[in-house]
Amino acid sequence: MQVIAVMNYKGAVGKTTLTANLGAEIAGRGRKVLLVDLDPQANLTFSFYSVEQWREDLRKDTTIMRWYEGDAPGREVDLHELIVTPPLVNAQLADTGGRLDLISSHLKLIDIDLRLAARLGGGTTLGESKRKFLDLHGCLARALRHEAFQEYDVVLIDCAPNFGLVTKTAIVASDYVLVPAKADYLSTLGIQYLVGNCDDLVSEYNDYVNHGTPGRAGDQTIETRFLGVIFTMVKIYASKPIGTQQYYIEEIRQNSQMPVLAGTMRDSPRYFGDAGESGVPAVLRAPVTDEVVAEFQTLTTEILEGVEAGSVR
Ligand SMILES: Nc1ncnc2c1ncn2[C@@H]1O[C@H](COP(=O)(O)OP(=O)(O)OP(=O)(O)O)[C@@H](O)[C@H]1O
Ligand SMILES: [Mg+2]
Repeated sequence: MQVIAVMNYKGAVGKTTLTANLGAEIAGRGRKVLLVDLDPQANLTFSFYSVEQWREDLRKDTTIMRWYEGDAPGREVDLHELIVTPPLVNAQLADTGGRLDLISSHLKLIDIDLRLAARLGGGTTLGESKRKFLDLHGCLARALRHEAFQEYDVVLIDCAPNFGLVTKTAIVASDYVLVPAKADYLSTLGIQYLVGNCDDLVSEYNDYVNHGTPGRAGDQTIETRFLGVIFTMVKIYASKPIGTQQYYIEEIRQNSQMPVLAGTMRDSPRYFGDAGESGVPAVLRAPVTDEVVAEFQTLTTEILEGVEAGSVR
């Protein structure tokens, strides 16, 4: 089981669209995939369930909010009890042997960072407060080690566009981080900060695991690796990204501390613009002969190869 966080604290760069389609494509190859929606916008959830269905079937008992609630994450309910199997996409996957499961989000997850922090309570020393805080960072990693998750080949976590506590739990829980980005000036700037912030988190967390007192049994040091930047919404002209986008792609390729995937996700309002209203990601709906689908399949293969090779910076 490999856990991949799809994150970028820049918003609207295609994180959720990539997560939904990547999950669907991997499941379409006969694998078992779990998607975890950690964004209070719940866009990934609504890519597989209508709002009405979510309200009726999931909202009360089966969202990630129930897990984060309570005295501490996991006190009220085990994470694996929240897994649901979205019907429409899985009907489409029926002949493939694959399955796409989901842990859905809740629109009220919006202030969970504050509530978690408040519940931590003050420590008597700065060191104690910090230890409690870092202990919380490991909650998702600990939960995903439950045997119920071992049947999955891949777990994809869709993060909110921030670097708050919940996003940090995702990074600590992940073997790999995938960073969708647009090929423009501001995205280019953001990626350098993102690398630095992830590195700081990893070293602070590992320091806590190695030296934290009293330390929690089973906590492990982490080595979160960047699978790389995926450029999304790339406008193709004459089989290449348009000039301005090509410039920023090269800029990141040469100057960033992160690998850049060769494959890109093309700007295609037709396929990727409906944000999942049909309950089945575009890659499973579009004709397989379509070049957008072919490109996405190549990108998926590159990602899976990166995971197998243990991609590093
Ligand atoms: N390759 C693409 N081509 C065309 N439209 C796209 C593409 N990828 C995403 N979109 C559209 O862009 C919008 C933002 O995409 P998405 O929700 O995936 O971004 P996000 O990074 O998850 O956003 P947020 O930061 O709010 O979570 C959506 O309306 C989506 O349908
Ligand atoms: Mg999103």
